[in-house]
Amino acid sequence: MSLQNQFGKDVLLTGWGHSKFGKLTDQTLESLIVQVSAEAIQNSGLEPRDIDEIYLGQFNSGMQPLGFTSSLALQLSQDLANVPATRTENACASGSAAFQQGVKSVLAGTARNVLVIGAEKMTDAGADVVGAALLGASYEMAGKASTTGFTGLFAEVAKHYEKRYGAGIRGSGIEGSGFARGLGDVLGSIAAKNHHNGMDNPYAQMHRDFGEEFCRTVSEKNPMVAEPLRRTDCSPVSDGAAAVVLSVGPASGAATEPVRLAGFGHANGFFPAERRDPTEFAATRVSWERALGMAGIGIEGLDFAEVHDCFTIAELLMYESMGLTPRGEGSRAVQEGWVYKDGKLPVNVSGGLKAKGHPVGATGVSQHVIAAMQLTGTAGAMQLPNARRGAVQNMGGVGIANYVSILESI
Ligand code: COA
Repeated sequence: MSLQNQFGKDVLLTGWGHSKFGKLTDQTLESLIVQVSAEAIQNSGLEPRDIDEIYLGQFNSGMQPLGFTSSLALQLSQDLANVPATRTENACASGSAAFQQGVKSVLAGTARNVLVIGAEKMTDAGADVVGAALLGASYEMAGKASTTGFTGLFAEVAKHYEKRYGAGIRGSGIEGSGFARGLGDVLGSIAAKNHHNGMDNPYAQMHRDFGEEFCRTVSEKNPMVAEPLRRTDCSPVSDGAAAVVLSVGPASGAATEPVRLAGFGHANGFFPAERRDPTEFAATRVSWERALGMAGIGIEGLDFAEVHDCFTIAELLMYESMGLTPRGEGSRAVQEGWVYKDGKLPVNVSGGLKAKGHPVGATGVSQHVIAAMQLTGTAGAMQLPNARRGAVQNMGGVGIANYVSILESI
């Protein structure tokens, strides 16, 4: 199966751009959007006049006063006048929502070239405003006071998981042996892996190779944020943007070979926590099944994956949602080395949200850009040998809005 078989045409990623992620005091939301849009269009070999449609993924939710941002990319060029532009919002998956809307425009034949942008400027607002804005993605906590913010919601996931599965390796002997010596160590290993990987990513917010011991230990420099999640179990608060051009065919003059979209999946789960099992991302699993099914492959057909590690417990559950391990055994993927750079399925070679940063609306598009770099041999120090097919997974809320893309080299 392929998009060609199913829809009679391919969707190609023909150009992309990526800003540095971090606290970008000399940039605005507008300047970030214009910067990455210019890079993406230039690298695709196209001109602004060739763009038929624009999708911008941005969450905002009160972090920026401007609540109407779809037209900001038009600031790039007079030639973008009258191009239809729409902002997509699906919490932390707003970027992938923009990507998949762009894909559907190309497949529908209403656009030949779509500019997809993901952007977020979080650090202009104070911590209280950011915390309240992020909690806007929670059915139960939106508008309510909280001392632990979104971290508190994933801390609940970790507690439920630990109660049911211990460290997440059935029959290992450390099952049920308590967070500090079991699951906490596994999560610390995931944090250390992603921080180590992030050292090779020039766009990453955090270039700090903290090491396993630091990430596994509560300390003055690594305090508990929401028990049992420590600071190193959390993605940071970030600014940044990324963009990609989707096209129905290759353009001459592109900076690299294009990358082909082999499959995509989207599934939303029920919003109230009481309607979900807290120990699995059930709708995320469906989005994986849809994307892999469309691509006609199994998980073993992937050479790498960029997944949504907004908190380390999310990456652990993702190993189970994507079918890398059975439920309750996700820790095997870390302990047996599968998800390291030299493992059988490297996960978050970019450093993930954990080290790269998580400007929420930008994240999904950033993941696609990083994957496209891997698949065209242009990922620099992050480059994996023989990266021919990879997955991108992006999630809004606690497993609520779920998107997976399968990308492949041509
Ligand atoms: N991981 C590792 N180190 C981090 C970090 C993170 N996520 N966030 C900040 N740091 C480091 C800083 O670099 C700084 O180091 P230094 O003292 O050596 O210079 C130190 O911690 C203090 O930085 P500060 O910004 O004051 O931290 P903070 O305690 O205010 O914020 C968190 C840390 C984890 C609470 C904050 O990043 C957070 O809320 N993250 C979650 C965001 C979120 O919920 N996103 C949505 C996910 S769905």
